Amino acid sequence: MYSDSVKTEYSRLAKGYDSRWSFYVNATIGETLNRLEIKQGERILDLGCGTGVLIQRLLDVAPKSEVIGIDFCAEMLAIAKQKLPESVELKLGSADNLPFSSNYFDIVVSTSAFHFFRDPSQALQEAKRVLKPNGRLVITDWCYDYLTCKVCDFFLRCFNRAHFRTYGVAECQAMMQSEGLQEIAIERYKIDWFWGMMTATAVK
Ligand SMILES: C[S@@+](CC[C@H](N)C(=O)[O-])C[C@H]1O[C@@H](n2cnc3c(N)ncnc32)[C@H](O)[C@@H]1O
Repeated sequence: MYSDSVKTEYSRLAKGYDSRWSFYVNATIGETLNRLEIKQGERILDLGCGTGVLIQRLLDVAPKSEVIGIDFCAEMLAIAKQKLPESVELKLGSADNLPFSSNYFDIVVSTSAFHFFRDPSQALQEAKRVLKPNGRLVITDWCYDYLTCKVCDFFLRCFNRAHFRTYGVAECQAMMQSEGLQEIAIERYKIDWFWGMMTATAVK
């Protein structure tokens, strides 16, 4: 299965992930936090939380919030567990079948994971389901509108089975719209000469 190739890839990368990707992760998470507008005490889900860097940063800005992480790679979660307080719940599970009740979270956020999701519409439906009415969905990922990302996407599709596909602003907007999300706003930006990103925000 293709999702197994993502798990295999990240179980291999888990130990070195934080140091190898530190610039990229800090930049993308910083951009995401700038667009989150968290209020103290909000319940937040980090989808594809990996090694838990975003969860750490969320707890820094909103220590009274309940932050839960989910990822389907046990090795990435093991690294997250080492650095997060024990009170943080980390779930092994997939974005397309979330083990949470409906209307549970104030915010669902995801950084650099969406381009791995084999069924992005199902993942959006699930994110919407677990959000409370008026809850916010915030997704940061590579943006296909940038030439460097197009080239990167092409090579990864040819040579890396874990990779699935990246999306441009218009496609992302259309996917969110067709899942019935409201107030969709997508900003694209570069974090350096290579990485072209976008952050999409929407309301249930
Ligand atoms: C590039 S890492 C990003 C990790 C973290 N969000 C960050 O910004 O550093 C992508 C993560 O998404 C996870 N992932 C990919 N597809 C997933 C899915 N369908 N369900 C849950 N996690 C998934 C991978 O296991 C990996 O930990």
